[in-house]
Amino acid sequence: MSIKAPTRRDFLAGAAGAGVLGAATLSSLSAFATPASHRAPGGRAGLIPYGSAVRADALVTDVAYREAIVTNCDIIVAEGEMKWLDVHPERNAYRFEKADALVDFARQNGIEIRGHTLAWYGAMPAWTAAIDSRAEAEAELVVHIETVVSRYRGQIPSWDVVNEALVDWPEDATSLRPSIWTRWLGADYLPIALRTTAAVDPETRLVLNEYDVEFRGARFDARRKALVQLLRSLRDRDVPLHAVGLQSHLFADRALDREGLQSLLRDVASLELDVLITELDVIDDRLPGDIGERDGRVAGVARDYLETVCEVVRPKAILTWGLSDRYTWVPTYFKRHDGMPNRPLPFDADLEPKPLFDVIEEFRGKFASRWTR
Ligand code: GLA
Repeated sequence: MSIKAPTRRDFLAGAAGAGVLGAATLSSLSAFATPASHRAPGGRAGLIPYGSAVRADALVTDVAYREAIVTNCDIIVAEGEMKWLDVHPERNAYRFEKADALVDFARQNGIEIRGHTLAWYGAMPAWTAAIDSRAEAEAELVVHIETVVSRYRGQIPSWDVVNEALVDWPEDATSLRPSIWTRWLGADYLPIALRTTAAVDPETRLVLNEYDVEFRGARFDARRKALVQLLRSLRDRDVPLHAVGLQSHLFADRALDREGLQSLLRDVASLELDVLITELDVIDDRLPGDIGERDGRVAGVARDYLETVCEVVRPKAILTWGLSDRYTWVPTYFKRHDGMPNRPLPFDADLEPKPLFDVIEEFRGKFASRWTR
């Protein structure tokens, strides 16, 4: 099963702008500090920090969801609110209300916040289609990154600078996913984005975030190979980069390629790059309906995956793409045919923890003593 780029792009462009909230409502988000949530930045000592993608509008309107985020997350990341479409909807207009509210909310609650994302093909505002020269593309990319990254300098310790650089089935590292950036800048958009981010916030960790590198099959072999080539080519040119983000949208009906994934992770480690699990969820549309069985299978898929990863590297963080089945992108693409709701996340739609949550908890501590970096 592969995701068709145009459909996906259409969806992403629409989804990122979801939710219309007045500034007054959003500004109240920063007041939702939970005093009991005092925590060490980055989470409990010795454990891999855990976190989730969040939606600003739901944090405002849904108290139980907000409390579950504060209780369970060491880290949050904006599901859409820091994408181009949301923060830069017009050429000369930025809108930071939602992103600011999330940064404030995180600070007030002692939660770390990751940035997502600065150079991607998806969720691009319509005005960028009018960019029609190399110089203009470079200027727009640089000014956007300077504006967004400088606004949160010192407050966002890790940015997904580059998201989904490779095509679905790459021949090699030059098979970059078409975007307004590749159209005008070719492969140069990668060093431009990474160097600009590093120049604006020298402390933030620069992450290249990729998907579909876990499974068995020729397409996934090709993706792993191209990703390592790409990382090496960046390293050879002294382009700053600190980590690879494994999105980890796992499909319960795809076979994990243990050897392939571990070999990729050894190559990543040999380049002295960290690994983050950035968008974990388990897509359950093909699993049996029975909830007990389904939740068990979902947890099992995540256990095999986390074990495979953690045998080779200690991820700097594990984030799921949402905390609760109440708010998940999965049914937009992978709705179940039996009409039952999808259950891809650690908490169910009533915010009760599921076996997937226990598995994540287990792995946060399991390999803690084995790794020093
Ligand atoms: C990708 C992107 C995320 C999000 C998800 C789900 O993984 O990185 O921002 O859009 O797709 O749609």
